[in-house]
Amino acid sequence: LAHLAESVVFDPIDVPTHENPYPAYQRLRDQAPVYHNPDRDFWALSRHADVMAAEDDWQGYTGKFGVDLDDTSNQFGDGVPPKGFFLGYDPPRHTVIRKALQGKFLPRGLKELEPMVREKCQQLVEQFIDTGSTDIAEGFATPFPDLVFAEVIGFPRDEHPRLSRLLRTALLRDLVNLPAPFIPQESVQAGLELREALKQIVAARRSDAPRDDLIGRLLAARPDDQEIPDEEIVGTLMFVFTAGTEEVTGVITNALRLLAEHPEQRALLVDEPDRIPAAVEEVLRYETIVQHLVKRPTRDIELHGQTIPEGARIVLLYASANRDDRVFEDPDRFDITRRGRGLASFGGGIHRCLGAPLARLEARVALEELLPRMPDYRVSGPIEWSQRVNFRGLRHLPLEWN
Ligand code: HEM
Repeated sequence: LAHLAESVVFDPIDVPTHENPYPAYQRLRDQAPVYHNPDRDFWALSRHADVMAAEDDWQGYTGKFGVDLDDTSNQFGDGVPPKGFFLGYDPPRHTVIRKALQGKFLPRGLKELEPMVREKCQQLVEQFIDTGSTDIAEGFATPFPDLVFAEVIGFPRDEHPRLSRLLRTALLRDLVNLPAPFIPQESVQAGLELREALKQIVAARRSDAPRDDLIGRLLAARPDDQEIPDEEIVGTLMFVFTAGTEEVTGVITNALRLLAEHPEQRALLVDEPDRIPAAVEEVLRYETIVQHLVKRPTRDIELHGQTIPEGARIVLLYASANRDDRVFEDPDRFDITRRGRGLASFGGGIHRCLGAPLARLEARVALEELLPRMPDYRVSGPIEWSQRVNFRGLRHLPLEWN
């Protein structure tokens, strides 16, 4: 294994690998399950069991120095981890912030949200459905989660479009023009403007009547009898706004592309819409939206005969875990009738995605509303992947239908 491992190369900051990472993941799993890339200065775990064991061990692996290879997470504010970026927190503060937000995302909270989610979805669909063609990424899969999440957070309605524009600009990355910076200047600027706008919104809400949205919950929380400081509330909102939107664009665009490529499976969904939730699970597995996150071990790790030193950057490859044939039968086959278990797409342990139920709800509603109205759609032009290093979703997906 050690001899084979030397010939395996994995570089996620490489455009062809970014566009099709799966052959590289398979080589990692089979030949180099503990992989080291000295040039980029990271290690990688690729097998399902290893990735999920690391996820379950928050004391052994921390996100507090940043969770990505391009330092995006440290752009959320001052400090490492930035205030409010609780994916990078350890307990006890992690528990406090997560608990303050949690209720909105539990089944009861979600049940209350569904009518609003469906209404936003229908309003957008009305705008383009009769034209017979649209770039569904731009015209639907981007604004839909932004509008939903702006409601959940509690942003003033007249500010939704501006906040959404700032958010999406802040998330732009440039992989193609390296060694130019990954994070373009306009995106840094948009991030700063977004933070400033959130600061003003939070300050204004301090003097308003209490409301039951995410801002209201953070303002009302009294962990250890202390208010959460504004700076940390702003950072938390900044983080959840990014975590709760583009990922959903990813699942919707991936679903529509995969179903166009598998028209017989799409026809099955049109006839039997009860299968949509299972189809969403398969989309989440087959094209893992958050391909990886980085964590650092708090001690030396011995695994498969190798030692990963304390403090090293370890890339946890959720996308590879989801294609591991040790867990999923025939993993490279897209099959919406699969009854899989062990989905790695939302991570695990104490940081397991807080928004997974909302993401599933939005994806289901999107397919329930779109498929009956454009059952025969096809991809009508070139698609374009997002260039965020660890992200799998489309920025452009032109569709046509009759
Ligand atoms: C399909 C869409 C989504 C995917 C694939 C996704 C994926 C992930 C992943 C992989 C993590 C890291 C888990 C870990 O470190 O173990 C995470 C964390 C998180 N996600 Fe999501 N996410 C999605 C949608 C959402 C939505 C809609 C929200 C809205 C609230 C959200 C909020 C969060 C938050 C707050 C965390 C950090 C939780 C913590 O540190 O305790 N995500 N997500």
